[in-house]
Amino acid sequence: MRYVSLFSGGGGLDLGFERAGWEPVVCVDNDPVACQTLSLNRPKWHVVCDDIRNFDARPFEGTDVVIGGPPCQGFSTAGKGDPADPRNFLWREYMRVVSEVRPRALVLENVSALTHRRNGDHLSGIMQELEKQGYTFAYGVLNAADYGVPQARRRLIVIGVLDGVASLPQPTTAGAWPTVWDAIGDLAGLPDDPDFSHVANRHAAHVVDRWRHLGPGETDPNYRRARLDPNRPSLTIRAGGGYGPSGNHLAGFHPPIHPTLPRQLTVREAARLQSFPDDWMLCGPKTIQGRQIGNAVPVNLGEAIGLHLAALLESQHAHETVLA
Ligand SMILES: C[S@@+](CC[C@H](N)C(=O)[O-])C[C@H]1O[C@@H](n2cnc3c(N)ncnc32)[C@H](O)[C@@H]1O
Repeated sequence: MRYVSLFSGGGGLDLGFERAGWEPVVCVDNDPVACQTLSLNRPKWHVVCDDIRNFDARPFEGTDVVIGGPPCQGFSTAGKGDPADPRNFLWREYMRVVSEVRPRALVLENVSALTHRRNGDHLSGIMQELEKQGYTFAYGVLNAADYGVPQARRRLIVIGVLDGVASLPQPTTAGAWPTVWDAIGDLAGLPDDPDFSHVANRHAAHVVDRWRHLGPGETDPNYRRARLDPNRPSLTIRAGGGYGPSGNHLAGFHPPIHPTLPRQLTVREAARLQSFPDDWMLCGPKTIQGRQIGNAVPVNLGEAIGLHLAALLESQHAHETVLA
């Protein structure tokens, strides 16, 4: 039950795997602040803060599983989607690590836009590489809300296995989705607390006035931002970028508008909607904390994948024991 974690970021997928009983032998990310977050929360994890291109995975040969979500800015429909973005090609590094570790199974996560035709070369490249290395695989776009996450977040999940038949986890909460209010209702009355990543933005008075009049689920057309519906799963929490009043693209963390208050979500509220536990501390300034949260695989989805993978490998093992 040990795995190599690539592109670990703020630890969403890793935390889910931990809950499912897995232990990382190494976590690799080149963002020093994300690495700081991992080390702060899990001092015993072996965190390598470096470019994956410098990472020699051979010492980890024979580890059960490799997991990771290569960067997706170049594929994402939310960003500019530059096809020449060098980050688009980092999946090749993921595959290089797989070839060095030779795990029994692997998980690759990415934005659903990787399945779009314009990104087809990358997806087919991943599949060809998996076949070349002898893995059978299953892939599909999963909605995190179907796995106990109070957020509609659609992500491509690829699961590969060396022996046996790969499959994806079955939904656990389809039709009974957790809501925004279940997740963050109790935080609305709390005072600001920077140590808890719960600090409300001070928006300009005219913005507050506009947002005060937005109904649940309604979008402010100027800022292209929606107020969350308290009775539904949240809209997707994104890592960064938003829009100013004239449609100008803004850097920073611009999550959706709170379901009852005239302000955007705090980082802690966004973390709750990503199913992070409250004791998971986030390093860095607010926008960098928001980036770690928006980039993450929701913890509950990671847990469902981790449990599924454990069951897959266990059934394989039982099968091999019977044959022997
Ligand atoms: C989509 S995020 C991963 C989120 C993570 N799976 C989670 O659940 O929290 C992608 C991560 O890849 C990292 N990254 C980008 N380029 C990298 C590189 N060349 N080498 C190592 N890590 C890189 C980023 O810092 C970012 O944390």
